[in-house]
Amino acid sequence: MKDIISSLDFSRNELDEIFSLADKYSKGEKSEALKDKTVALAFFEPSTRTYLSFSKAVRNLKGDIIGFSAEESTSVAKGENLADTIRMLDNYADFIVMRHKFDGAAKFASEIAEKPVINAGDGKHEHPTQSVIDIYTVYKHFGTPDGLIYGLMGDLKYARTVNSLLRILTLFKPKLVYLISPPELRARREILEGLNYSIKETNNPFEVINEIDVLYVTRIQKERFLDEMEYERIKESYIVDLKLVNEMKKDAIILHPLPRVNEIDRRVDKTPHAKYFEQASYGVPIRMGIFTALAG
Ligand code: NCD
Repeated sequence: MKDIISSLDFSRNELDEIFSLADKYSKGEKSEALKDKTVALAFFEPSTRTYLSFSKAVRNLKGDIIGFSAEESTSVAKGENLADTIRMLDNYADFIVMRHKFDGAAKFASEIAEKPVINAGDGKHEHPTQSVIDIYTVYKHFGTPDGLIYGLMGDLKYARTVNSLLRILTLFKPKLVYLISPPELRARREILEGLNYSIKETNNPFEVINEIDVLYVTRIQKERFLDEMEYERIKESYIVDLKLVNEMKKDAIILHPLPRVNEIDRRVDKTPHAKYFEQASYGVPIRMGIFTALAG
């Protein structure tokens, strides 16, 4: 069994398998894919949806859960180092799902642990299972992620979901991806260098909004800014409001990994474009699909 550290750890065939499993699980199909298996949920950083949907997915598949959702509740707070914590989890569990504030933490864990490690978000690096949910939502609405125009908007520098989404899109054929952000929050060059499709960067969403099929909005990642003043200056700069949404194509959709702060005006929620809560609902069936594929 393998580790899932980056969205590039999935192949297109595996994604097809996960999507068809998620379809079945959404329709109520039952499975005991994790029977007699224990999953460690090691969340060193805050989470709502990811933690809850991973734990619900494990329980639905009849697996056992151990773990924690706050670093303060672990012996790390007493000075235990990460490597020792990982070794212990590796003894107790069959899978380790880990979220950590440091880039590369999941990779580090996978080098120590014998059991598969699933990255549930490492710093500003990646959040691969979220990108599977994102692409699945696109599938649900357009039948395929291919041939569409995407617009990724907001904090493209620090949002790990953006990195995973940009990378997973290399397995598909997007027509074009617009990267919409203030100059200070442009996507990372090392991510862009590995892409195999056309991208265009802009700082004006109004210039491109009428072409976009999938608008993917991210929160400005306050906790990753080294300079609080810079955060304060930028935080209100990219807001999806009704004025922008009114320019969208009729069947275009808006996605967001959540949590939202104020980058999407709440009035947008009532428009037919808003699909972010539906997207969040796929967290459980997609993670069930991922476990089933890994365990099988
Ligand atoms: C994201 C994350 O943790 O990276 N949340 C999530 O898992 N859905 C996005 C964010 O925190 O902005």
